[in-house]
Amino acid sequence: MNNPDLTLAAETRSPVGVPDLLPQNLEPLYLRRSGTSLLIDFSTGEAAMLHFGADLGPVLPDLSLLGQAVPHSALDVPVTLGVIPQASSGWRGRPGLRGHRNGQAFSARLRVVSVERSSAELSSGGRSRGADCSAVITQADPEAGVSVRTEIRINDGGLLQLRHRLDNDGAGPYSVDELAAVLPVGRAATEILDLTGRWCRESHPQRLPLRQGTWVRSGRHGRTGHDASLLLAAGTPGFGNRHGQVWAVHLGWSGNHESFVDAAADGRTVLGASELLGAGEISVAANASYETPWLYAAYSAAGLDGISDAFYSWFRGRPHHPGVRSGKARPVVLNVWEAVYFDHRLEPLLELAEAAAGLGVERFVLDDGWFRGRRDDHAGLGDWYVDEDLWPEGLTPLIDAVTGHGMEFGLWVEPEMVNEDSDLARAHPDWIAGPAPRSPGGNQSAGGNPAGRLTGRLPMQWRHQQVLDLVNPAAWQYIFDRLDALLSEYRISYLKWDQNRDLAEMGHAGRPSVHAQTQAVYRLLDELRKAHPGVEIESCSSGGARVDLGILERTDRIWASDCNDALERQTIQRWTGVVVPPELVGSHIGPTTSHTTARTHDLSFRAITAMFGHFGLEWDVRRLDDAERTELARAIALFKQYRPLLHSGRMVRADEPDPALRLHGVVSHDGGEALYALVSVATSFAEVPGKVCLPGLLPDTAYRVEAVYPAAEDRRAFLQAAPPAWLAGGVEASGLFLAESGLPMPVLNPEHGLLLAVRRTTAGAPAADPAANSAHPVRNP
Ligand code: GLA
Repeated sequence: MNNPDLTLAAETRSPVGVPDLLPQNLEPLYLRRSGTSLLIDFSTGEAAMLHFGADLGPVLPDLSLLGQAVPHSALDVPVTLGVIPQASSGWRGRPGLRGHRNGQAFSARLRVVSVERSSAELSSGGRSRGADCSAVITQADPEAGVSVRTEIRINDGGLLQLRHRLDNDGAGPYSVDELAAVLPVGRAATEILDLTGRWCRESHPQRLPLRQGTWVRSGRHGRTGHDASLLLAAGTPGFGNRHGQVWAVHLGWSGNHESFVDAAADGRTVLGASELLGAGEISVAANASYETPWLYAAYSAAGLDGISDAFYSWFRGRPHHPGVRSGKARPVVLNVWEAVYFDHRLEPLLELAEAAAGLGVERFVLDDGWFRGRRDDHAGLGDWYVDEDLWPEGLTPLIDAVTGHGMEFGLWVEPEMVNEDSDLARAHPDWIAGPAPRSPGGNQSAGGNPAGRLTGRLPMQWRHQQVLDLVNPAAWQYIFDRLDALLSEYRISYLKWDQNRDLAEMGHAGRPSVHAQTQAVYRLLDELRKAHPGVEIESCSSGGARVDLGILERTDRIWASDCNDALERQTIQRWTGVVVPPELVGSHIGPTTSHTTARTHDLSFRAITAMFGHFGLEWDVRRLDDAERTELARAIALFKQYRPLLHSGRMVRADEPDPALRLHGVVSHDGGEALYALVSVATSFAEVPGKVCLPGLLPDTAYRVEAVYPAAEDRRAFLQAAPPAWLAGGVEASGLFLAESGLPMPVLNPEHGLLLAVRRTTAGAPAADPAANSAHPVRNP
């Protein structure tokens, strides 16, 4: 570091790095919970991240002695990694805050002014069980006129949450270009894993070596995106489902965002994420503030299953978690989309409702096509009135039939969108969002299109639709009123809330507005939930393009993909499920031949796949033959039997060495029962599968394992002269034997599955929770 000015500045301010603002003798902040800990030191005056990961025990060394060595050709003091990494502390990696006042005050020097700790952290020397484990750190730079308040908490189960609020304490506006939340990653992490995807192929994993430099995943869709990395993880070499150290982050935000791994030249690595802001998008007025979305982070010493434990525990601990909120099980759904598409005629729908009820369906969902002018996907979005031609008596005859059969009624809506061919667009062309301000005086001849009557270019159409500018209070109110009216007039228990395009060139009054639009959508959902607390809402976005913890704070499930092909779903659900528990992941049995891949699958494979989610059907069940109807009714009954377990237990995934096989299951928190699925996704190199391990049970407990679906004599599922003998009547074995030696499995044909039910046979006292680093037993919905 040869710049004399900077040297001078550092020396004048604080030769040993202790600034004027620091309250004297500030103890480090050490949050510990459920095997995870976070350690923040204040001895340099800055809130410095020292550790995130494994619990470090009750005794800490003198942290002021643990600054890094000072190398040659570098700053003259050890460089701290701030809670907000800052160039003013010498951090040369990705900065935590990028902002300015009209080009000035571009490099903040934030120093601690206060630390509020939860009583648990203070009174128990950091060990916090069952109580609040949180803190708020405020850092300020009076010269730049900004302060940042950082809220941190570790939830029971180990999931960490962190967010910042920047306050503009100075005169005039302060522009925020980025405010990131970061956490340090252990040096043992050498491998990155994240998720990517596209329509009908969401949440597919990719791995790469962690090298010096920055790995960034950017989402510029205005929505979360099909390709969004639901999870960005770094871990020890080859970390797997149940082995290896893993650090992972997720940003709870449904707009533009970035998540990154930043491996600095000094050897330190951070995982982080931030909202991706447009040019000039966030200008914070004096005395106003900007708040980041929550960053969620987890650490596991035992692979990705430990990461899922932390997320599931957090989800299920929420008072508004579905099942906890309503006290009832997740209903079996039939969605009519792949059965009738836009063909909305009452008679066939009544037949479908009757057939569904006969099979044991509990919720019937009318999809796209019911509102004014909606005969296909070219027109109607925005006109949220029941189409009088299609439904002369309104939706009442259908709803009465559905509820008369004892089912709930659900309705599809896409409130954030508008077709240019709609009464709404004709009446309010200025409500269509675009990159430029829109005012009267445009070219009338622009294709007869109402948007053409205004100045200001519109974005390109996507599925023939545009985005409604919900930042405009009048547009917001219109949508709220229409949805409120529908929910008030009809007995609707459920909304499938869709969002079917990217927010390209999203603007309000000529400025980028993804941030404000996302907040407007959140407010719409929040207000509707307040007005209709009994209504459940699903977040769908052309399948799984809006799966994140921001939207899931105000909705009750996500639609993971428009692809109902069971083979594709095995991967989509496995990786969506690394973060989101199965009761929140819509998962339907589709038609025998998939509408999105043309692959044909047996019912058993489709049903076994759908069971590890919020189970439903999306199939014209009027047309089943007798054998199909019997088998489907049995599969639905089986799901209902295991639903309490599936929607409350711990997800386990074996590290199965044969790439053609997968083994996942759900184990109850008391270790008393489990349901596993062995799935064959391809032909295997091996003649027979050999012994497959069933992990996650209590080692010293005896269990009975039984194959429950499909039947052993199903000739389409199996290809063998004889199955292993235990398959006929089950077998008894200890949890340790099942985890370490496993059971010989039958030869499954590719794209087939086998469901195994496991129950404790040992009498006696209830067993302890098998989770090593988990989680309290979760309330059973
Ligand atoms: C989107 C959804 C589908 C279906 C259609 C209706 O593509 O993801 O499930 O609702 O819209 O238009």
